[in-house]
Amino acid sequence: MNFRSITLALLFVSTASISIPASAQDTSGRYADKRIAINVSPAEKNQVLAEMREFLHGMHGIHISLARQDTKSIGLYARPMGQLLDRMPTSLKEHLPEEFTQLAIAMKEAFENLARDAETTGDISKTHENLAEVMTYCSGCHDTYRFNATQLKIRNK
Ligand code: HEC
Repeated sequence: MNFRSITLALLFVSTASISIPASAQDTSGRYADKRIAINVSPAEKNQVLAEMREFLHGMHGIHISLARQDTKSIGLYARPMGQLLDRMPTSLKEHLPEEFTQLAIAMKEAFENLARDAETTGDISKTHENLAEVMTYCSGCHDTYRFNATQLKIRNK
């Protein structure tokens, strides 16, 4: 291993160690769960998690479109993904924390921008940037909230 590759390896190790989100660390353990629990029924949890798994299929579709430089098809994936809140049952929507709802609304706008810019400009680099913007909402919400399946005698509010 020459000096340059050792430096690169050290850089990688130090970058890897600082890439763990601060919210996951505490004095007793690195991975303490400090996320805010949202009480939902088991059925509501199943529905939202199914939507979440669909997000990964959608992300896959967007990446394939990007790889094929087919920006016209990106809206077909991105627009339905943005409409997460519209698909949630009213019983659940009424009890989501305000900040959770705001994150979902902001993510919808980011998906709309992604779809519109991809279709109108065909700019691959801009599309990557818009996709990265969308992903800040995925991470932002995941860093902050978790679902707690309960029989719902207790609601968040
Ligand atoms: C407004 C909040 C919010 C947004 C935005 C959000 N998620 Fe989630 N997601 C959650 C919560 C809460 C969970 C459940 C976490 C837990 O209980 O541990 C979850 C879980 C998941 C899971 C796990 C599903 C399972 O079956 O366990 C995946 C995958 C996921 N999200 C993908 C995404 C992707 C990709 C995006 C962005 C395109 C995204 N999510 C955006 C709130 C959100």
